[in-house]
Amino acid sequence: MDGSLRILLVSCALVSMLVSSSAQTCGSYTFSNNNLYTSCTDLSELGSFIHWTRHTNGTLEIAYRQPDFSSTNWIAWAINLNSTGMVGAQSLVAYVNSSAPYAYTSPVSSYSTTLAPGSLSFSVPKIEAENSNGEMIIYATLELSSSLTTVNQVWQEGPLSGGTPGTHSTTGEHVQSMGTLDLLSGQTSTGGSATSSRVRRRNIHGVLNVVSWGTLMPLGAMIARYMKVFQAADPAWFYLHVACQSSGYIVGVAGWATGIKLGSDSSTVQYDTHRNVGITLFCLGTLQLFALLLRPNKDHKYRLYWNIYHHAIGYCIIILSIFNIFEGFDILDPEEKWKRAYIGILIFLGFFAIMLEAATWYIVIKRKRESSEKYPQNGNGVNGVNGHGARTVV
Ligand SMILES: *[C@@H]1O[C@H](CO)[C@@H](O)[C@H](O)[C@H]1NC(C)=O
Ligand SMILES: *[C@@H]1O[C@H](CO)[C@@H](O)[C@H](O)[C@H]1NC(C)=O
Ligand SMILES: *[C@@H]1O[C@H](CO)[C@@H](O)[C@H](O)[C@H]1NC(C)=O
Repeated sequence: MDGSLRILLVSCALVSMLVSSSAQTCGSYTFSNNNLYTSCTDLSELGSFIHWTRHTNGTLEIAYRQPDFSSTNWIAWAINLNSTGMVGAQSLVAYVNSSAPYAYTSPVSSYSTTLAPGSLSFSVPKIEAENSNGEMIIYATLELSSSLTTVNQVWQEGPLSGGTPGTHSTTGEHVQSMGTLDLLSGQTSTGGSATSSRVRRRNIHGVLNVVSWGTLMPLGAMIARYMKVFQAADPAWFYLHVACQSSGYIVGVAGWATGIKLGSDSSTVQYDTHRNVGITLFCLGTLQLFALLLRPNKDHKYRLYWNIYHHAIGYCIIILSIFNIFEGFDILDPEEKWKRAYIGILIFLGFFAIMLEAATWYIVIKRKRESSEKYPQNGNGVNGVNGHGARTVV
């Protein structure tokens, strides 16, 4: 099975690419106005950076940088004193209005905010924005309490709508861009351990399901369909099929469980379609497992009905799995390369399926012709000689 080996290698490459991430550092950056900050950190999402200096009286000077800025977007960085996430965020917002960069403060009191200007719960004596070389920077001075050494931060980017901030995307990095910021630590750290562990869990969920439901299951179905035409591969195909489907099922249940856990942990956004299709898949997969245990004998009169049922559910699972993996890609919103890698796997499997389908039909028709030459009176062709050919085209 040289094909399955290659798929295994591709899957391993996928996992290792997800685990390693490209590091970017804020420490070497020079501001055009020669501002200096004692600390900075690469934020874990949206490719932005926060630089700051904390004075012992609690005053905080910050520079929030978005290097990959489009002038049709707005950016915001906020600290949330009483809670985490968006509601309660004391925000610094900036965008380009009438071709000049414009920055202001906005307290966020609900998810339906329009980020209207307003004063924050602490005073902000200075706030300005700079837009140059495709980069947008917010400079601000925040007068915080001197006892505050760790704050909850949240940052965001969204499109302008009618010249003012419009609703930001609610998928991928846009719902993960929050965490805590240790104002005292001079060294760089990521957005927050709770956030990055959630990102890691979502990635693990994705990889487990792409490998199991998305790759092993269709591969196992192909083994059953295309290997059993060869008498020599009987009963090897059956054991390979069972091995593929049951390992796919075990990994798939692990992937499914991580998904259910992620769904129950997420208090803000619910992905109903993805979740419902996932639960349906788990039920159908479990049904297939019982179908294996309860299958009637080859010569049993109900075997034909069992075959129809087993195939129908099997194809249903494959179609729903692929659909749900693409739903998952939309939610997780990973770099384009992951989606392309999976499309590559599908093209690879699809190409082999088409080639093998053609080969199978060729063999079956040839066998039929040979047998009708041998036994011209036997109109039943293939079925009269052996059952292998007939079973392949159910
Ligand atoms: C806090 O300290 C800094 C630096 O010494 C100073 O510039 C700033 O005015 C002080 N802020 C307040 C509110 O006293
Ligand atoms: C946070 O809580 C404190 C004390 O309960 C309250 O005085 C303050 O207004 C709250 N801040 C915000 C932004 O809601
Ligand atoms: C940008 O627009 C706001 C109103 O939407 C206005 O108050 C502000 O002065 C404008 N800023 C610049 C730099 O044009």
